[in-house]
Amino acid sequence: VTVTLGLIGCGAIGSEVVKAVANGTIRNVGRIVAYDMVREKCLRLAEEHPQILECVDSLRELLSRKPRVVVEAASQEAVKEYGERVLEAGADLVILSVGALLDNELRERLVEAAKASGTKVYVPTGAIAGLDAVRAARLSGITRVELITKKPPKALGLEGLKEPKVLFEGPASEAVRRYPRNVNVVAALTLAAGVEATVKVVADPSVERNTHEIIVESRASRIRVRVENLPSPSNPRTSHLASLSAIELLRKILGGEEVLVGT
Ligand SMILES: NC(=O)c1ccc[n+]([C@@H]2O[C@H](COP(=O)([O-])OP(=O)(O)OC[C@H]3O[C@@H](n4cnc5c(N)ncnc54)[C@H](O)[C@@H]3O)[C@@H](O)[C@H]2O)c1
Repeated sequence: VTVTLGLIGCGAIGSEVVKAVANGTIRNVGRIVAYDMVREKCLRLAEEHPQILECVDSLRELLSRKPRVVVEAASQEAVKEYGERVLEAGADLVILSVGALLDNELRERLVEAAKASGTKVYVPTGAIAGLDAVRAARLSGITRVELITKKPPKALGLEGLKEPKVLFEGPASEAVRRYPRNVNVVAALTLAAGVEATVKVVADPSVERNTHEIIVESRASRIRVRVENLPSPSNPRTSHLASLSAIELLRKILGGEEVLVGT
């Protein structure tokens, strides 16, 4: 049996999800129904994948196709505007714009909608790694969470820097205001740990890739994870790993694999 997959946002991540359905990486999807507020973005993608992709003009139209799962790969505003309606319509929701979930009121509304309709909200690990272990460690009690983001100086407008320079060090809530591009990584880590992270942003001439290091101290272990990312082919601001993480999550939710490895 195949299901319908809903997609909000046909940008870098959305396009890669469509490609993954088209080439069979994500199985059990019969068709995709997509909404992008810039209609051409969807139409351009549909030209490449006419058999599986249908573009619609509103969320209402998207939901009328009864998708099993809807992937939000658009923006925080999209989560605010459409999240509850997707869940109320009985579809599970995969959220890429995780930063939206730092808004407690919105998060609560989504939780209530999911409870009422028996649906789930999924947040892929995204451009980082190790949230499985962070969640496990949480069961023992987490005492400290730190995220260190290192970028090549050029990416931060600091060409010619010779030594690493700490640009920011402080609580996650302030870090996302100062460095909004980091918001999804910070939010996913905070949600998994249940403890506000301390965030450091460093311009470092010794790194060539956007690098995230996570350090979590708990009663069970000290976790230290380092991810060095390459940009996605279609959007230099989005790590390729983030799209792949969404694809892998969809493979897990939609089935097609008999042995599931990893928490
Ligand atoms: N979780 C992670 O690790 C992670 C990593 C990278 C990006 N992201 C987030 O995922 C989202 C998508 O990233 P991307 O690189 O594909 O972005 P993108 O800019 O390439 O594509 C986003 C698309 O969504 C559309 N869109 C925006 N707001 C919309 C709305 N309200 N309704 C309908 N369509 C809308 C845009 O027109 C665009 O085509 C962003 O919010 C980004 O911050 C998350």
